[in-house]
Amino acid sequence: MVRLNKFLADCGVGSRRECDGLIESGAVKVNGKVAKLGQLVDESDKITVRDKRVGDKQKLYYVLLHKPKGCVTTVKDDLGRKTVMDLVDIKARLYPVGRLDYDTEGLLILTNDGDLSNRLTHPRNEINKTYVCRISGILKENERQQLERGVLVDGVKTAPARVKILEQDAHHTRLEVTIHEGRNHQVKKMLESVGYEVEFLKRVAVGDLRLGGLKRGDYRFLNEAEIDYLKRL
Ligand code: URA
Repeated sequence: MVRLNKFLADCGVGSRRECDGLIESGAVKVNGKVAKLGQLVDESDKITVRDKRVGDKQKLYYVLLHKPKGCVTTVKDDLGRKTVMDLVDIKARLYPVGRLDYDTEGLLILTNDGDLSNRLTHPRNEINKTYVCRISGILKENERQQLERGVLVDGVKTAPARVKILEQDAHHTRLEVTIHEGRNHQVKKMLESVGYEVEFLKRVAVGDLRLGGLKRGDYRFLNEAEIDYLKRL
């Protein structure tokens, strides 16, 4: 026997929390009766969501994509732009975990595991995301420290970050920035707040999961150890 919200989440209906919402709304029935929160079920029960049967546990996919620039991180784009889904030849309905800007490249996880997706994106879990970026200008040490301590972005101070200078020449600085928040355009806005424009941005890691040598536009399936790692983050 398993809890109904887990059963529904494993069938790809949504995250456990979303499934609890569905149960509370009365949309879920077990053997024809409106289900209750916390109810236990097994494979022999007839379970419906809005009177549509759910049952066969959906196969869960975990994909690591090297998102290139020039595509949006959504399943469908109203403006008809290329989406990250256009790069992946998998029949299942997968969703991107979090978001990278149109002109940002790098590591993007795609999955139909709603629970994992929620866990990875929930701010409470403070999961590190590491970016390499190139800015115009020479970042000074006091500015680097300011970025690490927190700067104002949209009127709210950012959480402590790690900022490492990788390389500098006369006109540019290459940095590695690790943040655990996921605010809109956060890295660009952090650098803007100390006076620099980001010219190039690439996510190279989520936690310790790294993009590695995957080519732009290519993807691969995560292995069991990587999936376990992400579930424990
Ligand atoms: N920060 C940004 O500014 N853009 C991204 O795509 C990701 C993080």
